[in-house]
Amino acid sequence: MAAFNTEQVLSVHHWNDTLFSFTTTRDAALRFHNGHFVMIGLEVDGKPLMRAYSIASANYEENLEFLSIKVQDGPLTSRLQHLKEGDTILVSRKPVGTLVIDDLRAGRNLFLFGTGTGLAPFMSIIKDPDTYERFEKVVLVHGVRFVSELAYSDFIQNELPQNEYFGEVVREKLLYYPTVTREEFRNTGRITDLIETGKLCEDLGIPQLDPAQDRAMLCGSPAMLADISAMLDKRGFEVSPGVGQPGDYVIERAFVEK
Ligand code: A2P
Repeated sequence: MAAFNTEQVLSVHHWNDTLFSFTTTRDAALRFHNGHFVMIGLEVDGKPLMRAYSIASANYEENLEFLSIKVQDGPLTSRLQHLKEGDTILVSRKPVGTLVIDDLRAGRNLFLFGTGTGLAPFMSIIKDPDTYERFEKVVLVHGVRFVSELAYSDFIQNELPQNEYFGEVVREKLLYYPTVTREEFRNTGRITDLIETGKLCEDLGIPQLDPAQDRAMLCGSPAMLADISAMLDKRGFEVSPGVGQPGDYVIERAFVEK
């Protein structure tokens, strides 16, 4: 298992029947950019069974945090959902990924569009003080089917703005827009429709998306990425061609088939 570190589970939180998150110890040598993912997993029948997971904790935090769905017959998550404090998991030693603010051109407002567990990398990005230095507003849009899937909403609305080091800039710059598609909520509808109709920016009281000034990061299902990318492309946004090559937006698939 030389490619992997063994980490200990420190806490587990079940958001609902389908979603949970957990924290683990972090190897002192593990370095990553906020927005990166790692492979995590368990040893099953003597072999590592690994899946990609975005890191939800920020790179300055002592521990690692992950957000996961629970799939009853999923090879990994059927096991992972039973994790308890003190259990161990494997974590790859090389975090990677395209969802990093360094690959965005300078801009005015940063839009973070995430659906489902696609929220996870944005948790690390909204905990990064650099994000707020680079943009005037940071707009976190989280689309889910049901209200109970709005993971971390209490943390985002009530804890992060009170952060002792950068709470003030969070209060000034972070706009959180949770939206639910399959039951009643204060905001409803798919992110695509909210952009297309202009409702998202109207509700938030900010200018409509402008490729000359605004930047975006996308994390969700392949269909969500295809639809939002097409909308942004049509408006003149240019996707980052790859790591180290800046663009107006960057994308990462939310890793859900577990
Ligand atoms: P909907 O309920 O209308 O399918 P999922 O769990 O399937 O990844 O969905 C998470 C959220 O993303 C749901 O609110 C879902 O809406 C929405 N969604 C699914 N596909 C797309 C898409 N192509 N574009 C935008 N939002 C989508």
